[in-house]
Amino acid sequence: MRADQALAPRNPVAAPPTSRQGALSIPQARGLPLLGCIPFLLANPLQFLLTQRRRLGPVFRVRAPGRDMVVLSGVEANRFMSEEGKDCFVSARFWGGVVREWQCPHFISATDGAVHIDERRALKPSMSRTVADARQQGLVEIVHETVGRYARGGSPFSMRELARTLTNAELYYLLTGERLKLSPALGKALAEYQRITFNVLVLGKWPRLMLKTPGYLLSRRRALAFIARLRKRFEAEPPADGYFRAALERHRSDPARRAKELDFAFLAPFWAGLDTLGSSFVFLVQQLVLDRSLLERVRSELDDAIRKEGLSGIPSPETLRKLPLLYGLCMETLRLYPVAFASGRTAARDFTFQGYRIAKGQDVMILTSATHFENRYFKDPLEFDIERYSAPRNEHRTKYAFNPFGRGPHICLGAAMAESMMLTTVATLLRDYELEAAVPGKRYPMIFDPSPTLPAAFAVSVRRR
Ligand code: HEM
Repeated sequence: MRADQALAPRNPVAAPPTSRQGALSIPQARGLPLLGCIPFLLANPLQFLLTQRRRLGPVFRVRAPGRDMVVLSGVEANRFMSEEGKDCFVSARFWGGVVREWQCPHFISATDGAVHIDERRALKPSMSRTVADARQQGLVEIVHETVGRYARGGSPFSMRELARTLTNAELYYLLTGERLKLSPALGKALAEYQRITFNVLVLGKWPRLMLKTPGYLLSRRRALAFIARLRKRFEAEPPADGYFRAALERHRSDPARRAKELDFAFLAPFWAGLDTLGSSFVFLVQQLVLDRSLLERVRSELDDAIRKEGLSGIPSPETLRKLPLLYGLCMETLRLYPVAFASGRTAARDFTFQGYRIAKGQDVMILTSATHFENRYFKDPLEFDIERYSAPRNEHRTKYAFNPFGRGPHICLGAAMAESMMLTTVATLLRDYELEAAVPGKRYPMIFDPSPTLPAAFAVSVRRR
C-alpha cells in the first residue's frame, strides 16, 4: 500500500552544478513575492523541501519574511553533520525561544561542545534500551490498562488521543519506575502546551499572541501543575535512580541553574516522546487498519514465536527485535513517516559543503530524512514494504540513508529506548486486540502540527482478541 503520493520522487535529485572557480551560488527555493516560501512551508514542509531538493540539488536556500535558511540534504549532508562537519553547527539559536522562556541554557538540545557532551553523558543511562527492556512487563500492563480504558464501550476513539495518553504513561513509568494513571486531559494539556510553544517559540510559525489564548493558558496551567507535583515529590524524596534523579543531581550540583530550568528538565522528556513516539504509533496503526493482510502477516509471525517458545505473553525485547516483520513494521513507519524529518542549526563558522560556501551565523536545516524517499537507497520508496529491513535487502544499512533519529552529535538520546517501547507496545496490541478503523479504507493525510502526525479525526475501535 502506497503512502502519500505527494512525496513521490518524480524526478531524480538534481546534481549540484559545477563551478570552475570559487564557491557555487546557492539556488533559491520556489517562493512568492513578499511571503517567500512561507505558504509552502506551512502547508506541507516535508513535501516542499523534498520537491525543492529534486529541483535544485542537495543545497538550496529557503526564504520567508525575517528568515533565511540554507537546506543541506542527502547522504553527504547526513555524513557531514556526523563526521568532518560536526563542529560546523550549533543549536542554541534554533532553540533560543525555549531557552529564553524557560531560562534553561543547559537544555540538552540547545547546548553544544563540552557542555553538551557532559549533559548527554549524565542523562544517557536513564534513557537507554536497558531501561525499557528491563521494564517490559510493566509496559505490557500499561498498554492493557490504557487501551482497555479506551476500548470500554466499543465506540471508536481518536487514535491521537490514545497515543498521547499511552506515551505519557509509558514514559512516566520508564523514567520513574512507578506506574501512575495519567489522564487523557493531562496528555492533551502537555501536547497542546508543546504544540503552541513550538509553533510560536521554535518555528516562528505563529505570532506571540497565541501565547495569550485561553486554550494555551489552560494547557500551560495543567502541564505546570503536573510538573510542580513531580518536583515537590521528587525533591522531598529523590528517586533511587532514573531520569528524574539524574535531572535533580545535575541541578543541585550546579548553582548556575535556576529553578525554572529544573521545571523544564522535568517537562522535556514528555515533550521529547509525545510528538515523536506518539505520532509514529498513530501512523503505524493507520497502516495496520488500512492493510489487513499486513496486520495478519506481522501477527502470525508473532503468534508463531509465542507458540514456539511456549510463552503466555509476548516474547522478550531481544526476541521481538529479531522478528523481521515486526521490526520491519516499526522501522518502515519511522522511514516513511519521519516525525522528526529535519534538524535546525546555525553555522558555527564559515565552511564549504559540496562546493557551496556557508557563512558563520547562517541558519541551516539538515533535511536528514530526504534519503528515505530515494529509490537508490529504498526501492520503490513510497511502498510501505516491511521486508526491506531484513537480509538480503537490509536497505536501512546503507550508511546515513536511514535517519529517523537524526544524525550527528544531537542524534536522539532516547532512540534505543523508543525502539524497545515501540516493539513491546505494537506486539502487545497485535497479540491481544483487534483493531478496526472507524471509517474503513479512509487514509488520512499527514498534517504538520507542528511535527508530522494524523488528524484527531482518525479513529479506531478496539476489542480484546
Ligand atoms: C519514535 C520516537 C523518536 C524519534 C523519531 C526521535 C527523534 C529524534 C531526533 C531526530 C532527534 C535529534 C533532533 C536534532 O537533531 O535536533 C532527537 C533528539 C532527542 N531525543 Fe528523540 N526521538 C524519539 C523518541 C525519544 C524518546 C522516547 C526520548 C526520551 C524520552 C527522546 C529523547 C531525545 C533527547 C533527549 C534528544 C536530544 C539529544 C541531544 O540533543 O543530544 N527521544 N530525537
